Amino acid sequence: SAGARRGEDGVLRLGGVPVTQLAAEFGTPAYFLDEDDFRARARAWREAFAGADVFYAGKAFLSRAVVRWLVEEGLNLDVCSGGELAVALAGGMPAERLALHGNNKSRAELAAAVEAGVGRIVVDSFEEIERLDAIARERGVRQGVLVRVTVGVEAHTHEFIATAHEDQKFGLALAGGQAAEAVRRVLAADGLTLLGLHSHIGSQIFDTAGFEVAARRVVGLLAEIRDEHGVELPEIDLGGGLGIAYTPADDPRDPAEIAKSLGWIVQRECEAAGLAAPRLSVEPGRAIAGPTTFTLYEVGTVKPLEGLRTYVSVDGGMSDNIRTALYDAEYSVVLASRASSAPPMLSRVVGKHCESGDIVVRDAYLPADVRPGDLLAVPATGAYCRSMASNYNHLTRPPVVAVRDGRARVIVRRETPEDLLALDVG
Ligand code: LLP
Repeated sequence: SAGARRGEDGVLRLGGVPVTQLAAEFGTPAYFLDEDDFRARARAWREAFAGADVFYAGKAFLSRAVVRWLVEEGLNLDVCSGGELAVALAGGMPAERLALHGNNKSRAELAAAVEAGVGRIVVDSFEEIERLDAIARERGVRQGVLVRVTVGVEAHTHEFIATAHEDQKFGLALAGGQAAEAVRRVLAADGLTLLGLHSHIGSQIFDTAGFEVAARRVVGLLAEIRDEHGVELPEIDLGGGLGIAYTPADDPRDPAEIAKSLGWIVQRECEAAGLAAPRLSVEPGRAIAGPTTFTLYEVGTVKPLEGLRTYVSVDGGMSDNIRTALYDAEYSVVLASRASSAPPMLSRVVGKHCESGDIVVRDAYLPADVRPGDLLAVPATGAYCRSMASNYNHLTRPPVVAVRDGRARVIVRRETPEDLLALDVG
């Protein structure tokens, strides 16, 4: 993160606090989050999309403190379950600034959202349109909705693929007229108000061309809706997905650059179609949370495998970062607790789980004198690490510690064996 630097003694510091001190106070493994960096990234998005709405995607990482920062920095929040909704409300996000997502929201989740006054629910199926309409009418309200459109663009990491039919579970397909039919049904529903269209094409994307194709196709549907129904929808949401740097090879785009290119395309396409440009909104998750945090681990064992590499085992693993095992994600790692002038040694940083796929960093060069007791920092773990953490092997999930102005405070505490036993009521 922006605030992590080595001191003259070679010890990595966050906001001026040495990691050795952080480890002594909070234990390892632990996630250390640079609060100023989080706020600065949130602000950069809000400023880049001035006049548009930025909905931080809570699935990347959510806690009450995060919700408070978002409120203070003027962002909205996208949630995708009843649990995230509960945290959002508990953290003080006004319900009208919330969006609810999901391809299979339960009736209870839909009802909770309607009752709380959630500003927009992104509908994802015909069944949901019917269910939500009934829930809203029973309560005598009109619920604002966006229709999630599958535009036929699937973007993954460095490239995007445009296909006629996406073989996946989300959204209502543009091709074949499902999206247009969903729009018809929402417009006919007395309990629903159609606010606009939504598209999300993927995650960890560097190539903005995928967003541009999506924007053009969504505007195309806006024009069809105008022609068929005589209504011009006021908003399009182009989702999240902007990639971050996990390794030096990654070259992320800037939110301002995305805002400019999307704004321009939407403007141009709307002009061509004779539409007033709709309000644009976006849902960045990883791009805000990801770079703000590093995970700190303590080395327990060092096992050289002749002619292969050295296995460096740390005190966490796939339970605090599943992304390497699940997506073959690439991370980097540094020796954080001291300087070393030892030569680099091909290493694999692995966890303590009973599984050989329990890899945190597949290929890394660590100083050859790395030894038990050393602290290792893995950067860019702020998104989809704590939020996807598990209790595999009954490990307790690590805390999240926010550092600001040289002060560190726990925002999500470490789990304890008692927490785990409390659920075990047999
Ligand atoms: N909006 C919608 C509707 C989404 O489904 C997502 C992410 C986002 C926004 C935020 O996307 P972001 O800006 O964070 O890329 N667990 C995976 C990522 C799953 C993303 C799911 N949807 C990972 O660890 O890479």
